[in-house]
Amino acid sequence: MTKQTYLTGITTSGTPHLGNYVGAIRPAIIASKVADNESYYFLADYHALINSHDPAAVRQSRLEIAATWMALGLDTDRSTFYRQSDIPEISELTWILTCMTAKGLMNRAHAYKGLMQENIDSGSSDPDKGISMGLFNYPILMSADILMFKATRVPVGKDQIQHVEMCRDIAQRFNHHYGELLVVPDVEVDENTPLITGLDGRKMSKSYNNTIALFGTSKQLRKQIMKIKTNSLEPGEPKDPDDSTVFDVYKAFASQDEIATMREDYAKGISWGDAKQRLYELIDAQLAEAREKYNRLLAHPDEVEDVLQAGAEKARIQSKELMLQVRDAVGLSSQA
Ligand code: TRP
Repeated sequence: MTKQTYLTGITTSGTPHLGNYVGAIRPAIIASKVADNESYYFLADYHALINSHDPAAVRQSRLEIAATWMALGLDTDRSTFYRQSDIPEISELTWILTCMTAKGLMNRAHAYKGLMQENIDSGSSDPDKGISMGLFNYPILMSADILMFKATRVPVGKDQIQHVEMCRDIAQRFNHHYGELLVVPDVEVDENTPLITGLDGRKMSKSYNNTIALFGTSKQLRKQIMKIKTNSLEPGEPKDPDDSTVFDVYKAFASQDEIATMREDYAKGISWGDAKQRLYELIDAQLAEAREKYNRLLAHPDEVEDVLQAGAEKARIQSKELMLQVRDAVGLSSQA
């Protein structure tokens, strides 16, 4: 098999929750350690500006998300870990790609269309109300992220597939006009990504406000787990593990043996309180060490900064080289 280059961006908004951990962070960290492939992980902080204009929140989320990945053991030697805004070549490439992107293509982006539809449905006279050019151009910035590092595989959730397809379109159009310079990436949708349910039984998501924080204190973790919605079956009454949020979350952390035991205990009528306590103890034990590291990193932001700066330095060797070629291809190289 030919060597693949994986690239994933993490929008720096909010604080990571257990759903982010199970669905995205944990698999990426495992991949960063085992794969022979090259991998790029970056904090998409330019993308964060689309939704947040609060500098303190942007700063805090960037730090928290970087510290999360480091605390959980991302191999930052083997992979390249950096912040999008530390790579000035990305905004340069964004502009050049913007000039090669049909506006009609961006008109079709789901995120943009969805917001426009909301405006129309709410009877607003301006369908573009509240929509910034940042949101409209979002897929072009994302394309620059991907094309800059010649990614061949972009693992994303279903909501991002269209963006990677747009990236392919944009790269092909560029290559057709200026010569084969950009690598056209493939989408990689991981159908097996475990999704966990949130407190209310719907998918765990910030937008539903039903999340369990990844690195709260142990006490907060317990308190949130105790809030998971259950039915009103009494202790001693058999319970259905396949219709239980507690069991669902348990499965995402437990070994096969632990899952089997829990199944039996459901049949025997374990109380919701005991099931939740067991879930709490399991997650707490798995996260304890990383949580401690995380808290230490938050107290020493300079250590996070050093890692990110080293990552940016490594990344820029490639981004500078690609930009020289791109500038040359479009007619912007030095005349000397
Ligand atoms: N838009 C992605 C998200 O919100 C994050 C992202 C930005 C990204 N640039 C990327 C993902 C490049 C993959 C590749 O999830």
